[in-house]
Amino acid sequence: MKHRILHLGEEALRRVAKPVTQFDAELKQLVADMAETMRDADGVGLAAPQIGVEKRVVVIELDQKLYELINPEIVESSGKDTCEEGCLSVPGIREEVTRAKKVVARAYDSNGDLFEITAEGLFARAIQHECDHLDGVLYPMRMRDFTRFGFTDELFPDLE
Ligand code: CO
Repeated sequence: MKHRILHLGEEALRRVAKPVTQFDAELKQLVADMAETMRDADGVGLAAPQIGVEKRVVVIELDQKLYELINPEIVESSGKDTCEEGCLSVPGIREEVTRAKKVVARAYDSNGDLFEITAEGLFARAIQHECDHLDGVLYPMRMRDFTRFGFTDELFPDLE
């Protein structure tokens, strides 16, 4: 089922999501719903907090391959790369953000199997962007100057 994507200014986007502890049918349904929501919006990635679900779940689809990352952690990052990116929760704009060029991430799939993935370029960028969402970090906070889009600090409150 497709879900509504939350937009900048909605508080749920700023919360730190909780680790998944049960690898069950409900989790598989969440992953399926997230993939459907992402594809419908023509996105490359989506994190569960973007549909208001406070869980550490990410989907990324590149070259027609769907990656499900449950409780992902970036265990290595190297290099620097500045590139334009966008976010389904911050529609209508794109802006350059500097991130690591290459990352190694460790995550579980929806069966509960741990895997490690080495990513570069857009894939590495997507992993970093989506992992940020799990910690309540939105990409304008990574921009050199988000005020040029009319954003103010009030859009990014510190939540308890
Ligand atoms: Co995003």
